[in-house]
Amino acid sequence: MKPIDFHERIIAPSLLAADFSKIGEESRRAVDSGADWIHLDVMDGHFVDNISFGPAVVETVDKATDAFLDVHLMISRPDHYLPRFIEAGADMITVHVEAEHPVGETLRRIRAAGRLAGLALNPATPVAAVEPYLGEIDLLLCMTVVPGFGGQSFMPEVLEKISAVAEIRQTNGLAFHVEVDGGIDAGTAARCAAVGANVMVAGSSTFRAPDMAAAIQSIRNA
Ligand code: DX5
Ligand code: ZN
Repeated sequence: MKPIDFHERIIAPSLLAADFSKIGEESRRAVDSGADWIHLDVMDGHFVDNISFGPAVVETVDKATDAFLDVHLMISRPDHYLPRFIEAGADMITVHVEAEHPVGETLRRIRAAGRLAGLALNPATPVAAVEPYLGEIDLLLCMTVVPGFGGQSFMPEVLEKISAVAEIRQTNGLAFHVEVDGGIDAGTAARCAAVGANVMVAGSSTFRAPDMAAAIQSIRNA
């Protein structure tokens, strides 16, 4: 596993905002438009108040592109479904600290399967909740909206949390990406990058842009 370079700006369009009638084509469009990763928002209708898609869609995208698949499990039992997302071709699997599972063990199982392990926390969840795991992850996802739907407004109060996490990373000599997800466009990406985030998940502002390549480039340059 190559070391994590958390200074690298990574753009991860969220498939949640894509045209679901042509998922494979949309995935290729994202890659052709300059996406570094494809972010797949999995929702179970229990952990969040929406249902999106499961392992079959991850497999569809895996077959359609060679893109790095950044799978965000907004589900209550990520430990139970882990084997199916690994089998489907996920490259990074991010689980929520608030979900009902043995967090440390789930993270270790993801890495044991040769995938990158991510941990996510919702806007209302304090940094203290994830601190015990920061040495065991490749990415921390600081949600910048309440998870469940695309197209919501960015929550600026999360900036303070991102800054605090970047400080802890620096002080402890840790190496993990900081990812933000929700209401991210060039403007909000710049604000998040200024306090230490480097992986930008963007759904509406990329897949729904008139020119996806230009939208991705504007977030990359933000
Ligand atoms: C929330 C989803 C969204 C999605 C991005 O549960 O995770 O944040 O990825 O949505 P936009 O970029 O449209 O706000
Ligand atoms: Zn997401």
